[in-house]
Amino acid sequence: MTRKTVLTGDRPTGKLHLGHYVGSLRSRVDLQADHDQFIMIADAQALTDHYAEPMKVRENVYQVALDYLAVGIDPSLSTIFIQSQISQLPELAMYFLNLVTWNRLKHNPTVKAEITQKGFGEAVPAGFMAYPVYQAADITAFHADIVPVGEDQKPMIEQTNELVRSFNRIYQTSCLKEVEAIIPKIARLPGIDGGAKMGKSLGNALYLSDSEDEVSKKIKKMYTDPNHLRVEDPGQVEGNPVFIYLDAFGKDKDKIEELKGHYAKGGLGDSVVKKYLLEVLLEFLEPIRKKRELYQNHLDEVKRILHEGTLKAQAQAEKTMKKVKEAMCLNY
Ligand code: TRP
Repeated sequence: MTRKTVLTGDRPTGKLHLGHYVGSLRSRVDLQADHDQFIMIADAQALTDHYAEPMKVRENVYQVALDYLAVGIDPSLSTIFIQSQISQLPELAMYFLNLVTWNRLKHNPTVKAEITQKGFGEAVPAGFMAYPVYQAADITAFHADIVPVGEDQKPMIEQTNELVRSFNRIYQTSCLKEVEAIIPKIARLPGIDGGAKMGKSLGNALYLSDSEDEVSKKIKKMYTDPNHLRVEDPGQVEGNPVFIYLDAFGKDKDKIEELKGHYAKGGLGDSVVKKYLLEVLLEFLEPIRKKRELYQNHLDEVKRILHEGTLKAQAQAEKTMKKVKEAMCLNY
């Protein structure tokens, strides 16, 4: 069987958090053994709204790379690369931009939500509006079969496939490939404030690099069932972030089920559940923190990994671009 190609990535706008882990990092670690996996640090995409903070984006490229290595992404199995260094990507996107209407861009649900969240209104940068098209170029340039993403990125994949179909039809080629989104079972982790989504800008994130002290503080103030006022009251398990986190990170499923039953019946205090959650999270995070520190102390090695990955990614993107240009009669 031929190996399938996976392409994924993150905008380096900050350190990665548990939401990233559950939504995509975990599946990348699983996928790398039997897939050709490309993992892109999407610095150029980060600049679509952080264009005035290039140094911050640059610093975060390294932070994200450290997070990848810390969670177990293995550079001998996965190709980690820096988006801005692959000039074939904006080149391909330029041709894709002809195949999408302004109206279609405006109606991409992910972009729409982000415009509201960032308060752009009509003053949204054109580059930001177009980012799904750039993302389609990212995906197709590497001939990806699969993109593991958080649920919020699903519209990006739909838009990518629309572009692939248009391109192949208009230029009578089959050089671009449609891609499949795979959404992890628990694709979205709520914030520690109970908000539907964990996010840096929402101020409700637990980071992979948080210290024990930070984790402890965050768990203490974590949102639970607001109606669970006295220990003896029955509590709500469904939708309760504390239990969602336990389901996502706890290994002892029997114990978790027992706690859920007890909580629902009444007589189990939030502080007891939180204490157990803290234990679970610290156990999960400790090896990650250690590995991160190790790489942090060997940044040259991290830079070498990124450099090698970038060269490999360039070669792959160039192959695709050659076919694209042929199909478009741009082969002079
Ligand atoms: N949009 C992703 C994010 O917000 C990053 C990204 C850029 C990406 N290009 C991609 C993800 C291609 C998957 C495939 O973090």
